[in-house]
Amino acid sequence: MNGPILVTGGTGTLGKPVVRRLLDDGRDVRVLSRRPRPAEDRSPYEWATGDMKTGAGLDAAVAGAKVVVHCATTGGKGDVEATRRLIEVARRQSAPPHLVYISIVGIDRIPFFYYRAKLESERLIEQSGLPWTVLRTTQFHDLLAMITEAQRRLPVALTISGARFQPVEVREVADQLVELATGEPAGRVPDMGGPEIRTHTDLARSYLQSVGRRRRVVPLWLPGGMFKALRQGGNLAPDRAVGRGTFEEFLAQRVKKPVQ
Ligand SMILES: NC(=O)c1ccc[n+]([C@@H]2O[C@H](COP(=O)([O-])OP(=O)(O)OC[C@H]3O[C@@H](n4cnc5c(N)ncnc54)[C@H](OP(=O)(O)O)[C@@H]3O)[C@@H](O)[C@H]2O)c1
Repeated sequence: MNGPILVTGGTGTLGKPVVRRLLDDGRDVRVLSRRPRPAEDRSPYEWATGDMKTGAGLDAAVAGAKVVVHCATTGGKGDVEATRRLIEVARRQSAPPHLVYISIVGIDRIPFFYYRAKLESERLIEQSGLPWTVLRTTQFHDLLAMITEAQRRLPVALTISGARFQPVEVREVADQLVELATGEPAGRVPDMGGPEIRTHTDLARSYLQSVGRRRRVVPLWLPGGMFKALRQGGNLAPDRAVGRGTFEEFLAQRVKKPVQ
């Protein structure tokens, strides 16, 4: 494969293991970040500084890339604009790259602004005329841990009553993305879910126990379409429980280093 693989969001929770795995495989990698390259970073990849919201630096980041693994997220509506810009730049290349996108299980079932942006981004990619691949996964273990950790200053830990999650190990998602990125464009591929479906309350209890924090866990019944869809399991992929690493295994590995 000639030309680097560009990883947008290569500094994020998913992007980092994607980059690591690509390097382990001997691939030529370029990372896009809004920040300048940290002085202490001696990793064997190229660094492109740019902002997908404004388009600054995007031309240079995409130039010559054979594949773009799009892991960056602005956390909301900005994702649609970012994806649109990325597609425009990619289409201008003399050899347009294969665009690989990470998406989320249930974005078409759960009315949530972030999911609407992901769905619209998927549609843009499908209609882009570029060679493309889209993988939807369930939530990463890291996110479930972060939701409880973010409440560390509260006297109790709140959870979404009736909601279940099927968290997946992010390194396995990275492995799958790398396999897709180094293969032929495949369109929408089968969803990827974690090995177990557990209630939010149960997952929060496991997290608190792993970091040795005694807190009462209080499930909250929340109104609205998003929470209703969660209670109905819209975020789950029970037929695609292909992930192997469990939440307990994830917690055991990071017990000495809780989420910041
Ligand atoms: N977290 C989950 O449970 C989960 C589950 C399924 C799918 N996903 C999807 O996986 C992807 C990655 O999620 P994540 O949890 O790894 O996210 P994350 O840790 O928040 O990382 C976000 C990345 O986006 C980059 N970024 C943000 N704004 C940018 C901008 N304006 N221009 C360029 N880069 C920008 C950041 O880079 P800099 O800060 O270095 O600029 C960072 O590397 C997202 O598309 C998300 O929807 C996540």
